[in-house]
Amino acid sequence: MSAEHEKRVVARKALELLKEEKVELLGLGSGTTVAVFVEELAKSDLGAKIKAIPSSSQIETEARRHGLTLVSPEYGKPDLTIDGADEIDDELNLLKGGGGALVREKILAMSSSYYLVIADHSKVVNRLCTNRPLPVEVLPYGYLWTKELIEGALNSEARLRYSGDGIFVSDNGNYILDVHCQPLEEPESVEKLLKLYPGVVEVGIFTELTDEALIAFGDEVRSFTP
Ligand code: A5P
Repeated sequence: MSAEHEKRVVARKALELLKEEKVELLGLGSGTTVAVFVEELAKSDLGAKIKAIPSSSQIETEARRHGLTLVSPEYGKPDLTIDGADEIDDELNLLKGGGGALVREKILAMSSSYYLVIADHSKVVNRLCTNRPLPVEVLPYGYLWTKELIEGALNSEARLRYSGDGIFVSDNGNYILDVHCQPLEEPESVEKLLKLYPGVVEVGIFTELTDEALIAFGDEVRSFTP
């Protein structure tokens, strides 16, 4: 079963769940899985009723294209945020930032009443950073020094992310370093350690934030809670 099919399956399941709850304000994560969810939401009755807060210019563009009503974070805290992930471990810790939206996604995750993660089964790992590097958003000012600090702390190479020929710049005007580290034994301590550096804006490790993960295995969707 393709990942594309599983994204559709899990997006539809999330929509069913949304219909059962009394959600007025919805947080939208970023990435291709959430984009499929946006498409499904827009096709449903709820599409015209719900207000949504986007986490990135990518998902904002998708949501606008499908006619959803968007508001800013000042409007209020989301009843529910639906987000994707790059990797999900046994304890529902997440690796995030493949699309460069980790800061706003974490802000939404922390201030939502319920944080629901949706993914195809290729995202499931024993330990974070099994298949992908760790994204860290850093200030452009002194980023080479911040890079050196991160490399020393994790004994791993940190590569500046590019988009085409230019440096990738996040929606917040920052850079992303992709740290090619070993699978993480203790994700929470790595998150805390890197956040001590003033040039680090945010780390793409989400611990103790997930309220529920819906993961598609073929046509079946399994729900996981901490
Ligand atoms: C954005 O920065 C990421 O955290 C996304 O949430 C993550 O990359 C999931 O994206 P896909 O649904 O495209 O895999």
